[in-house]
Amino acid sequence: MSLIPFLDASGKLGWTQAALSAAGLTFTWYIVSSVVAWYKLRHIPGPFLASFNNIWGFWAICTGQSNQIIADAQKKYGRVMRVAPDAISTFDPETLFRIISPRSNYLRSQWYTNARFDHRGDSVFTMTNTPSHNKRKAKLAPAFSGKNVPFLETKLDKWLTALIKTIRDRIAKGEETIEIGLLIEHFQLDLISELSMGQPWGNLQANEDHFGYLEMRKTVIPSIQSWLHIPLARKIFMSSVFLKLFAPRTTDTKGLGLFLGVLEDAVKRRFSVTPEKAPREQDILDIWIEHGHSARECQLDLAILVPAGSDTTIMMIRGTLLLLMSTPAVYWKLKQEIRDAISDGRISSPVTNEEAKSLEYTQAVVREGFRIMMPVNYGFPKQVPDSGDTICGIPIPGGTDVYVNYESLMRCEEVFGKDADIFRPERFLGSGPDVAYKVKVLDLAFGGGYFTCLGKTLAVIEMNKVFVELFRNFNFQTANPEKPWRREVYTTWLVHDFWTRVTEDTTMG
Ligand code: HEM
Repeated sequence: MSLIPFLDASGKLGWTQAALSAAGLTFTWYIVSSVVAWYKLRHIPGPFLASFNNIWGFWAICTGQSNQIIADAQKKYGRVMRVAPDAISTFDPETLFRIISPRSNYLRSQWYTNARFDHRGDSVFTMTNTPSHNKRKAKLAPAFSGKNVPFLETKLDKWLTALIKTIRDRIAKGEETIEIGLLIEHFQLDLISELSMGQPWGNLQANEDHFGYLEMRKTVIPSIQSWLHIPLARKIFMSSVFLKLFAPRTTDTKGLGLFLGVLEDAVKRRFSVTPEKAPREQDILDIWIEHGHSARECQLDLAILVPAGSDTTIMMIRGTLLLLMSTPAVYWKLKQEIRDAISDGRISSPVTNEEAKSLEYTQAVVREGFRIMMPVNYGFPKQVPDSGDTICGIPIPGGTDVYVNYESLMRCEEVFGKDADIFRPERFLGSGPDVAYKVKVLDLAFGGGYFTCLGKTLAVIEMNKVFVELFRNFNFQTANPEKPWRREVYTTWLVHDFWTRVTEDTTMG
């Protein structure tokens, strides 16, 4: 027998021996690498598979029921749970406050590179280098703060009025039921496209998915949000070489490429040497350019702004609508508060943000709906600094990714009470420290501190206003009480077939 494993006794290459040797080596490599992977976080409980590879995280997300699966596992394994060889998940509020605090040394993990669509560069969301990310964010943030907030509110009012008119028109046309989920999607996309690029996509009035954006999301969300839980896949699919060769092109006539092409055109027009002649109202692109954003940066950041600014808010509105339709006591109490405010002349039409904030029960409904139907379910990991950390008394080595389990956080009984699974806005009434703490935990939904969501101001104003406007004008009833909608939950979620009976409410004055 030869001493070299794949040579036979005569010293010639034997294919069987070569194959067996290769299999043996692969198996040995797998065992050794699995033991090495397991060793790092061996003291942290979690699903068996999660100790050795990233398959568990991938599987949990791609089932489309990740909220339930991850929350059940977290219940079983505790506040700190291992979800991958070098990642944990937690819903411990104090840990999350520490991670977002100004003194925190936590970094954005490689997970953020998931949303990279373009080989020509990063959007603000996909940047993991802290100074570069800070610099980029500083140029984008003014569009959502200070003197620009009234501009956001004015545009929102315009589109809320359009939403009410569209529903009214469709009722007048005799539509017995409306796919309210889709209608809200059209409304939000028109709002975000006009806010950001000055030109609405025209979905709401036409009741049409222009550019096939909504259809495209149905495949992109499940695939990107699950596959890219696997670091190796992330490295390959998000590499510049792969993106250059295979990523969707802005010249494509459908899918993600078409969407990116629409954004590219909008930016090109804005930067073109011949300025647009027709007088235009200000939009987010103008503000970004004023703050030194280049054409390429505008394009890359629009590609994250449109989904980030639409998917999340859409989910918040649809989720709260379903909760209200399923809870008559809350539904009628909300209507009564709006009715009283109208008859006392305390609210305008559309309601202003300040007026909406004074409606105590409406505010509680908005918070409770947001809590129960949290648009972000799981993810957004931050990396433990090299010096390591201790989370809930457990030492965590540097370099570990800490995922946020929003589903468990928002249903945490220690924070929200024993009935945390129930839609009960009353838990947010009052002004004591207990309520303030609940509001503070709820606010973690927007990240926080250096990691804060850029569109938070707009999202909050919208939440404050939208239900007042919908409920002062209409009544809502789910068309299919046994199955009001079909929901798929990944890192964010998708809703289908949310058929609703909408009728005019002429009693509100
Ligand atoms: C209910 C509504 C919303 C929720 C729950 C939400 C939540 C979040 C979360 C959790 C993050 C990541 C934070 C982190 O890295 O830890 C984020 C980032 C972001 N959001 Fe939102 N968001 C909402 C609405 C919006 C809106 C309306 C816009 C824009 C119009 C927007 C734009 C962005 C952008 C651009 C980022 C990336 C920020 C960065 O890279 O630092 N979001 N959001």
